[in-house]
Amino acid sequence: MKNKFLAAAVEIVGFNLLALFLVYKLYILPRLAVVSDGGPVETGLMIFVGIYLAGMIVIGFHIYITMIKPAAKAQEELKKAAEESKKAEIIRKEFVANVSHELKTPLTSIFGFIDTLQQGAAEDPEIRTKFIDIIAIETARLKRLIEDLLVLSDIENKKESADAKEFCVKTVLERTVEALEPIAEDKEVRLITEYDEDAWIYGSPDRFRQMMVNLIENAIKYSEPGGRVWVIVRLTEEKVQVAVKDEGIGIAKEHLERLFERFYRVDKSRSTKAGGTGLGLSIVKHIAALFGAELNVESEVGEGSTFYVTFER
Ligand SMILES: Nc1ncnc2c1ncn2[C@@H]1O[C@H](COP(=O)(O)OP(=O)(O)O)[C@@H](O)[C@H]1O
Ligand SMILES: [Mg+2]
Repeated sequence: MKNKFLAAAVEIVGFNLLALFLVYKLYILPRLAVVSDGGPVETGLMIFVGIYLAGMIVIGFHIYITMIKPAAKAQEELKKAAEESKKAEIIRKEFVANVSHELKTPLTSIFGFIDTLQQGAAEDPEIRTKFIDIIAIETARLKRLIEDLLVLSDIENKKESADAKEFCVKTVLERTVEALEPIAEDKEVRLITEYDEDAWIYGSPDRFRQMMVNLIENAIKYSEPGGRVWVIVRLTEEKVQVAVKDEGIGIAKEHLERLFERFYRVDKSRSTKAGGTGLGLSIVKHIAALFGAELNVESEVGEGSTFYVTFER
């Protein structure tokens, strides 16, 4: 910027010095001398004034292009960056408030039940068992929440996973589905897999597994007993698509846009009852971004939902 400013100053001063020199040479000097008739001198002056104006316009235009326009653009960008950082700050504050609230709720409950037990409720074996069960459930909820928060911060902090490599989608999915089988059985939901052979992608297999666990767990959780959940891998020339499809409660259109936000839940009490933290889909979104994969959802209330993750091969 400083250099451009100097160049503009040199341009203006130089051009004006040249103009002064020409005025002296073409106008003043001939007048000082003895001249026969002044006609050509006046015409020369007119041409000179014309060239001078044109020169100043060119210099002005040059200054506009090299200095004024970029300065305006830089200012616009600065404004945009400031707005974005303000937005990020609001999101961060909201997140801290949400986390505090989510941590406080189970802790308050645990604290309350322990207090009641200490006040004498522990004497009654039936009440004692019931309260300890509730404390165990709330503690498990706290643990899940903290685990999910750690996963999120881990993904956000280390963009590159140490264990990234080419891996077989089918092998990792088979293991993941097997591990989730007991949860599906508990819920009386049938897990069905359809794999195209030989789908290989690059990335962290562990992150991929985390993403699929979240999607398949959701599909099971938000299904009714007797429902079916499909895990489907499809191959094309350039892409590998994994779809997790259910016949569950579905998601209304107005929720789809915010679904992947941290702590966004369509039905908070249902999510909490099912052991949800509200962080699963935001983890899915972050991992998909790490893989450079596209994430889509199709859903119809009462009919079911399908989540698609599409990877480049
Ligand atoms: N397969 C699904 N069917 C219906 N609703 C779903 C499904 N997956 C996610 N949702 C909705 O999206 C919300 C956010 O999902 P998620 O981030 O995994 O949080 P949660 O811990 O509540 O499962 C859920 O609370 C639920 O309302
Ligand atoms: Mg979930």
